[in-house]
Amino acid sequence: MAAVQEMARLQRLLFEVERDFVRTATTLIYRVGEPELKYLLCQHVWESAGHARFLRERGREMSGFGSGDGVRDDLRRLFNEAIMPSDGATALAGFYRVLKPALLAAYRHYLQATHHLADWPSLHLVEEFIGDEDRHAREMRAFLQDTPEVSVWCEHLRSALAALGGLLGEHTRIPLPEPFVWESDTRRYAHPATCNRGKYPTCSSVFSYDPEETPIVRPWLVDPATDARVIRIMVYVWLMMEMDAVDYLATVFVDTPDAPFDLHHDLARHLWDESRHSAFGYRQLPKLGIDLMTVEHSLDLYNILVQMPPHERYAMMTMEFEAGSFPTKATVMDRIRELNDFEADTLLAFDRNDEQNHVRYGHRWLPEIMALCGDTRPVEEFVRATQARFAETAKVYGNQTPHALPPETRLTGSKILRLVQSQS
Ligand SMILES: [Fe+2]
Ligand SMILES: [Fe+2]
Repeated sequence: MAAVQEMARLQRLLFEVERDFVRTATTLIYRVGEPELKYLLCQHVWESAGHARFLRERGREMSGFGSGDGVRDDLRRLFNEAIMPSDGATALAGFYRVLKPALLAAYRHYLQATHHLADWPSLHLVEEFIGDEDRHAREMRAFLQDTPEVSVWCEHLRSALAALGGLLGEHTRIPLPEPFVWESDTRRYAHPATCNRGKYPTCSSVFSYDPEETPIVRPWLVDPATDARVIRIMVYVWLMMEMDAVDYLATVFVDTPDAPFDLHHDLARHLWDESRHSAFGYRQLPKLGIDLMTVEHSLDLYNILVQMPPHERYAMMTMEFEAGSFPTKATVMDRIRELNDFEADTLLAFDRNDEQNHVRYGHRWLPEIMALCGDTRPVEEFVRATQARFAETAKVYGNQTPHALPPETRLTGSKILRLVQSQS
């Protein structure tokens, strides 16, 4: 069985690498500012979660894969090091210039080391993953920067990787250069106090009751007298701002290092869904005549939630924001149908379907995240207490981001109304 056990050992390593990529690359998402880059990272993280899942499924058919979900210490240390740069662009380059190429090399090594007839079931998976990794490298190329800082950091990470002999130990181990200081030994990784939205203007919230202040006017969303075209633009702003959910959900992975893989797998799916919902708005608004540089990005949810522990973040997301959004969204969907806009109907229908799954994930995983965080209260009591704590935390950390744009240039409810009237 030695031949099987050797290939199972490599699959186990590949599984651990993919799952630790999911745990750590998610920290890039709220630190980079470009929406297209955030979306791409969410997609890659989801695909990595898929790779890990299929590797585990196949690996378990083979003697020697092991039964647990854990990641060995030396790999975990490498990935913990990768998140350390305080600059998001530098950390991104480390992941995509050093770790992802090493993963691609590891898959190629597997392909070359295994017997193509005997291990055919693995072959098929590995060939597919190589295709994915090649594509990930291509898709990311345009977002990688070349700076002296990036070069120094990539060299540092390459040394750490070489000391392992590559991700599978397939090369001769090269001792760490002297002196080598693990950044992760000298300080603790901490989430930034606010998320990065790049060149886009920011504000505290896109929701209010004042049509002169924000694009989404709460009473207008449910007022039967509101022009459905106004509601369509407001709901696309709402969807685009699910970027908030992308940014704060992305913080939960690294904060739950001992989570079972299935939990991170479902969180990765949740994350990718939210990034697609955000992309619905991001792609549709310009088609309706909205200049995205006039749409302020709201930072309140990230700013408040990042001050709370991960199980409270997840509870607010699934039990409060998502579970509470269905009645308004249902009313909005009814109004949008008046427009005979098949694409808008489709996007909203998929959003709703995904959100139902997210609430299901919440019921499934909240007790587990609570346990990981050492919280032993009954779930309902915990959720109520968390709602109260959110309200308290919001008093301190909410409403701290002034409008970046003056009312004349900012998209507001009144402007949406005027735009729509000028189009009829
Ligand atoms: Fe969503
Ligand atoms: Fe959701």
